[in-house]
Amino acid sequence: MNTISFTYQETSTVTQEQLTRIAEPLSQELQTMQASIEQGYATAYAFASVPYDTQQLIAVHTIVQEKMQLNPTMLIVIGIGGSNLGAIAVHEALKGSLYNASNPAIKLHFADTVDANYMYDLVVLMEQELKAGGNVLLNVISKSGTTTETIVNFEILLTVLERYKKRSADYCIVTTDRDSKLWQYGIKKGYTCLEIPANVGGRYSVFTSVGLFPLALMGIDCTKLLEGARASMEDAFNQQFMHNNAAVRAALLYNLYKRHITIHDLFVFSKNLAGYNYWYRQLMAESLGKEFNKQGKKVNVGITPTVSIGTTDLHSVAQLYLAGAIERFTTFVVVDKPMHDLNIPPMQDLAILIPSVEHLELATLMNTINKGVQVAYKKKKRPFCVLELSQLDEFTVGYLMQMHMVEIVLLGSLLQVNPFDQPNVELYKEEVRTMLMKREQ
Ligand code: PA5
Repeated sequence: MNTISFTYQETSTVTQEQLTRIAEPLSQELQTMQASIEQGYATAYAFASVPYDTQQLIAVHTIVQEKMQLNPTMLIVIGIGGSNLGAIAVHEALKGSLYNASNPAIKLHFADTVDANYMYDLVVLMEQELKAGGNVLLNVISKSGTTTETIVNFEILLTVLERYKKRSADYCIVTTDRDSKLWQYGIKKGYTCLEIPANVGGRYSVFTSVGLFPLALMGIDCTKLLEGARASMEDAFNQQFMHNNAAVRAALLYNLYKRHITIHDLFVFSKNLAGYNYWYRQLMAESLGKEFNKQGKKVNVGITPTVSIGTTDLHSVAQLYLAGAIERFTTFVVVDKPMHDLNIPPMQDLAILIPSVEHLELATLMNTINKGVQVAYKKKKRPFCVLELSQLDEFTVGYLMQMHMVEIVLLGSLLQVNPFDQPNVELYKEEVRTMLMKREQ
């Protein structure tokens, strides 16, 4: 089932010949990736095995059933970066950005940064929920178990929880590496602990318990999500190069990077995909932005990912995109069929201000604007490609995420960097810890 179509031939400025020159090393990398699946989570390519791990989904569903016995009315996911961006991306893609305002059975909030205003507001919301007799689950997610923002936010929210619930431990779920300090702490306190496979890094972990637990609790069909991810892997392994979207995308981005097109703009024409865009930005930036290559040579490489949301950002950045330096490759993401559509009503006098839109469906208007943008990009010789999704559902989102993960890993191999580490992020984390320690002395 192919729910995604990818077009780039006329508009990317990369020729078929240039692409096929890159096909050989990519096919070798894909073979290594495929062979690694046999070895489960034992290799550096562990992310590729995640969608095939049906046992972990069973384990997650068991915990979800157990926690549903507590009648949760709010879930707060506490994590940052790879530990929460995936769940935000999937949930927002499928349920929209106004989800909490629709008075759902379970509200969903994310606590990532240590922003005092935001955390204060979240504490107020949580207290209101608890005072009204609601039940709040806290899912703290940290692979390392030692990220300052996550641990601090957990402490703050746990303190509130403990004021209202005698058996507060029942409401806490810890997702972390087995035997991390957070794991040991969770076991000691009697929290439910979910394991992250050791070789699966944060930004590749959306289909592990990191993403699956909060998403399944929120009623997302994770079986379909993983089906989509597996279909994506099968296409990556079996399709001929020219029909292998992940490989072609990696080859395109690499060729353009070598020609000094060093920015990649993901321009999504769907508000539901804003969270997806932030997830992709982290995946690309942290995986490819590297000081040293695999041979230890200083290279300072990286493609700069930018986030654009259509049509909103046409009124913010389009002037630059169409007139500034040609240094950017754009992927437009369009969704053919929205979950719901609206007809533009008869406009009476306003029709003279904007002719020809009466009775039009909003989705048609959105796609017409995107088509107009594509023509403008062509006229101004801005390189771009288009990812067209038939609809936003679990299968399609799962497929797209896995395709993007494979794309980034392939790009890592072309740039000869390790796409799975983030040594410079660790650098800042360490500096903060040292500063906080000094403050204590
Ligand atoms: O992708 C990554 O590895 C990072 O973005 C981490 O997810 C992020 O730094 C949070 O780390 P942790 O999950 O250890 O708290």
